[in-house]
Amino acid sequence: MKIISISNNKGGVGKTTTTVNVAAALHIMGKKVLVIDMDHQAQATYHFGINPNKVVDSIYNVLKGEKNYQDIIIKRKGIDLFPANPEMKNVEFLPIPAKEFLLKEALEGLTGYDYVLIDCPPSLGVLTLNALAISEFILVPLQAQFLPFHGMYNLFEAVQMVKKRINRNVEVAGIIGTMYNPKKSINREVMEETEKRLPGKLFSTFIRENVALQEAPSWGKTIFEYKPESNGAEDYMALTGEIIARFDLMSPA
Ligand SMILES: Nc1ncnc2c1ncn2[C@@H]1O[C@H](COP(=O)(O)OP(=O)(O)O)[C@@H](O)[C@H]1O
Ligand SMILES: [Mg+2]
Repeated sequence: MKIISISNNKGGVGKTTTTVNVAAALHIMGKKVLVIDMDHQAQATYHFGINPNKVVDSIYNVLKGEKNYQDIIIKRKGIDLFPANPEMKNVEFLPIPAKEFLLKEALEGLTGYDYVLIDCPPSLGVLTLNALAISEFILVPLQAQFLPFHGMYNLFEAVQMVKKRINRNVEVAGIIGTMYNPKKSINREVMEETEKRLPGKLFSTFIRENVALQEAPSWGKTIFEYKPESNGAEDYMALTGEIIARFDLMSPA
């Protein structure tokens, strides 16, 4: 079972879009997939067609120890989901020590999945630390539009700290170029610069700018359900093939 956090402390870079559509591609490839929505904005939950405001028992109840994870699973067309809801932001204020290990403790004994994908919020707060504490890999979506290296260095620095104190087995498996438009020179420059500064991290599949990817969440559908012929579907399928191959290289077994 491979546990993967999709994380970047910047918002709007394609984390949720990547989580949902890579999960969907893995499912199409025959893998057993679980998605954990760790963002109180609950966009992944919404993208899967579930209204977060109607989610009574979310991953938050599991973090608080009120529910077992088995009791909150939503089974959605072959993909399992631990949903989020807005009250999750209160996790920061729970009067419990060692809050970064709540997810790890709650998911003790979790089995039966090939891939667990965790959609992280756009910060390095408690919810992200909980995700990183149980992850083997981190995937970092990088919006191709401008040079966001400062933020990325923060993330890499944070990962070093997490390795030291929370989970020494976690690694940044790769950077995913999102919202890519090959006609814009800035997009190409960002990707070239990324490859130069962090050699070998960038996946060769870039996710192109694609309206269907933007529309799919409002229909509560993955890109493969909404527009299987779109560039978005093609790119996420290719990317997922590349991700699987890289994970297998990084942790054979
Ligand atoms: N490749 C893409 N082309 C066009 N729009 C995209 C693409 N990827 C994501 N988006 C849109 O950009 C916005 C931010 O993406 P999202 O995945 O929610 O980012 P994050 O989870 O990092 O905040 C959303 O409206 C999403 O639909
Ligand atoms: Mg998101």
